[in-house]
Amino acid sequence: EKIHSVIFKNSVEASKIVAQEIATLIQSKQAENQKCILGLATGSSPIRVYAELVRLHKEEGLSFSNVITFNLDEYYPMTKENNQSYHYFMHEHLFNHIDIKPENINIPDGTVAIEDLNQYCVDYELKIKNAGGLDFQLLGIGRTGHVGFNEPGSHVNSGTRLITLDHITKVDASSDFNGISNVPKRAITMGVSTILRSKRIVLLAWGQNKADIIKRTIQGDISAEIPATFLQNHDNTTFVLDQSAASEL
Ligand code: GLP
Repeated sequence: EKIHSVIFKNSVEASKIVAQEIATLIQSKQAENQKCILGLATGSSPIRVYAELVRLHKEEGLSFSNVITFNLDEYYPMTKENNQSYHYFMHEHLFNHIDIKPENINIPDGTVAIEDLNQYCVDYELKIKNAGGLDFQLLGIGRTGHVGFNEPGSHVNSGTRLITLDHITKVDASSDFNGISNVPKRAITMGVSTILRSKRIVLLAWGQNKADIIKRTIQGDISAEIPATFLQNHDNTTFVLDQSAASEL
């Protein structure tokens, strides 16, 4: 196995450790007067990590004044105000509660006109590059093996782009959208190569329904059929799992 994994009793404990790693990174960059470039994820998996970061800000004075964030993805089309948007999610769970500068928050914009999207995606990549690249990328994983919204078939060299959501992904999102017919058919996502360029990657997976995809991701052959398997080629990735998600390893 090339991917390093750590198994915790539960997601509460695991999330605290991950938040602590992020906090330590932010503070070490602060000490060197440098920006800290974080790649962030949505979904249920990172919620407790964000809650712990908010607690560290409120109770232990952790500052995000030197932090620049890039989110992985956003549904398309999607307005920012929609409470199903990843824009809304990130503000609700993290940005509204910390001292990050609004101009340092980057989330793919689900309102960009379709004819402007290619250029928008190129610019998103460039913005990450010009910031110095991602120091840390937080990931969840979909049951299709997607990271961000890189669905099966995503090329290892893919960059930020518009993608079509897999049927299973739409099934999993259907409860958030009050039925599968309301789930957006597409999304903007950072590419596999965008993610793999991050200096450090931590993927979170909790619960029995992730056990099968975690096994296939860590122990299976590297293939675009399960884009998360490309993480096997990254030399600083850790899978942080609870006992249920690790139960088939
Ligand atoms: C969505 C997101 C992914 C996330 C996945 C898993 O599809 N685009 O980034 O990893 O959901 O979600 P959850 O953490 O709720 O299981």
